[in-house]
Amino acid sequence: MTHAIEVRDLTKTFGAQRVLAGVSFTVARGESVAVLGRSGTGKSVLLKTIIGLMDPDAGTALVEGRSFNVLSERERLKARTGITYAFQGAALFDSLSVADNVGFPLLQARRPADEVRRRVEEALATVDLADAIDKVPSELSGGMQKRVGLARAIITKPAIILYDEPTTGLDPLTTDVINRIILRLQRERGVTAMVVTHDMDSAFTVADRIIMLEEGRIAASGTPDEIRNHSSPWVQRFITGQSAGGSSARLPVVRD
Ligand SMILES: Nc1ncnc2c1ncn2[C@@H]1O[C@H](COP(=O)(O)OP(=O)(O)O)[C@@H](O)[C@H]1O
Ligand SMILES: [Mg+2]
Repeated sequence: MTHAIEVRDLTKTFGAQRVLAGVSFTVARGESVAVLGRSGTGKSVLLKTIIGLMDPDAGTALVEGRSFNVLSERERLKARTGITYAFQGAALFDSLSVADNVGFPLLQARRPADEVRRRVEEALATVDLADAIDKVPSELSGGMQKRVGLARAIITKPAIILYDEPTTGLDPLTTDVINRIILRLQRERGVTAMVVTHDMDSAFTVADRIIMLEEGRIAASGTPDEIRNHSSPWVQRFITGQSAGGSSARLPVVRD
């Protein structure tokens, strides 16, 4: 069977720094997998490699059985129709209205204006921001900007969404809103999700399975229950260290 995502022996080095040191896992269609790890452990590099914004030194990353990394830039753009990377930070255009930010992928694809407007309204409703359609990003809070970024990510109705730190820097209430949106997209639309985060609570809330990255390798993986009851002291310190530090705390440096 073809997995939605299959990563095999992925390695990536920047200069002397080995960021990914042989990472392998699969994500089934409709599954939601959280990737946890401290800042700088290569989570964004992993997502960017999967979607072909970066290429690995060795190993393969397959999306629906195909690798972006072997395609030309032009072919990559075409092949990315069913998959979206929701960037860390909202990455909105300050000079454009919310409507034009969210509709950007459709405007680029030269869809008719009435269709774009209808789908923008629909996407904004999904993230509970229907009222913001005619505002500009500077009029919105950070959490609302993140939701606008999310609306832009889902407007093409991708089957696979790669979320990069969707709740980082948000207050608990907004974090909860984003987590609910991620769950709703999975349950109602069958979206396959990879959610990169250093927020343990978010991972436990949105994920069917959790992968923990440390020093370029998978240090542990399993269902949220398996991770909670994991026998490894390292995993337990990772979990309790996070709760002790509050939900916005960075994961502690822990080593056996
Ligand atoms: N384009 C790049 N050039 C050089 N080093 C990079 C590049 N992208 C990421 N890195 C380095 O790789 C490491 C992992 O980065 P990243 O994947 O962004 O971490 P995170 O887990 O916080 O998302 C960091 O040390 C970062 O400095
Ligand atoms: Mg990152």
